[in-house]
Amino acid sequence: MLDIGLSLLAIHFTEPLSYFAYIKNKKLDLKENEDLPPVSVIIPSYNEKDKIREKIMNVLESYPREKVELVIVDSSDDGTFEEIRNIQDEISSGMSYLQIPRMKIIKTERRGKIFAIKEGVKASSNNIVLMTDVDAKWDDPLQNAIKYLHGEVGAVSCIKHANSSAENSYRDFYNVLRMGESAIHSSPIFHGEMTAFRKDVLSCDEIPIVGADDSTIATITALKGYRAVCVNMRAYELAPSGMDYVRWKARRGSHLIIHFTRYLPKVLKSENKKFKKVFAEEAYLHLINPWILVVGFAIVTLSDPILSLLMLSLLGLLYVPKKTRNVIKAWFPNQIFLIIAQMYALFKGE
Ligand code: GDD
Ligand code: MN
Repeated sequence: MLDIGLSLLAIHFTEPLSYFAYIKNKKLDLKENEDLPPVSVIIPSYNEKDKIREKIMNVLESYPREKVELVIVDSSDDGTFEEIRNIQDEISSGMSYLQIPRMKIIKTERRGKIFAIKEGVKASSNNIVLMTDVDAKWDDPLQNAIKYLHGEVGAVSCIKHANSSAENSYRDFYNVLRMGESAIHSSPIFHGEMTAFRKDVLSCDEIPIVGADDSTIATITALKGYRAVCVNMRAYELAPSGMDYVRWKARRGSHLIIHFTRYLPKVLKSENKKFKKVFAEEAYLHLINPWILVVGFAIVTLSDPILSLLMLSLLGLLYVPKKTRNVIKAWFPNQIFLIIAQMYALFKGE
């Protein structure tokens, strides 16, 4: 019995590590577009009065203003709408005519983010549209990503970083995966901080109203034979704290779980071998690998409690140096979160 437990633990760790080792040297080799195309930036907002100003300024600082069309789709009832109007007045009075970004403000009922995005896409005038959350901040110019959105590339997204060094150490791990998968073909996971796509590749009607809308856009794009890539444009999200953080993480994790279960059959049937490989691996890492850890450890504990204590002590020792501590802090809670997210998905749905 102990053998089985130990083998499961070995699988739990070697599978992601070998995937990481395999992927980390893959270099994104994409052609840059010589022209900088106009972009419609869609910002959905629901009660974001305190954050909306900084958000708009951040977007306008990130790309040549004359090439930006801002489309704000608002469903707020806390004065955000009035604040947006004020910002619009300030922007248009403070700049020369050419620099004024075009700005559309749409008022819709509150029917969730992706409903709002679809309204924004319909109202947008450019072929390239992007969505970005109000609580997301861009740290690199948008050009870093948009320059690749042409030819075989149908969609692009950013990579994520965080304010804390602990979270960053595991973010780096995921960023390497996202960009490595993008180098192979496409990343099955995209980020709401910045997800851009081409309307000539993906029409508004094809975007389903589901959670994990960003990753869904990536997957649909890849299934159409175009590439959906995460590139070196860093963005971060202001995360909630305390119990809100746990709920927020579980809800989003559950969206990703549903995403993988929903698209796995379709992807496995597709002809796209490269994307199939990365998607199947990610589905495994999200759906199965966390259970292998739990079951493996339970078996070891039942058959050899001393050994399981020794393992926990080793983990305790590894917790002392900062480097290994960050890895532990990032890996183990995440495995538990994924299991919680699966339960959440099972009982609460979307
Ligand atoms: N107009 C409108 N109407 N906007 C909305 C609504 C609505 O009913 N609900 C949310 N929004 C806006 C928010 O104001 C914010 O700008 C954006 O949609 C995202 O909402 P968050 O509350 O910040 O979403 P999240 O942090 O849980 O999830 C984000 O990240 C996920 C993972 O990357 C979203 O981008 C998800 O779509 C994404 O899957
Ligand atoms: Mn958010």
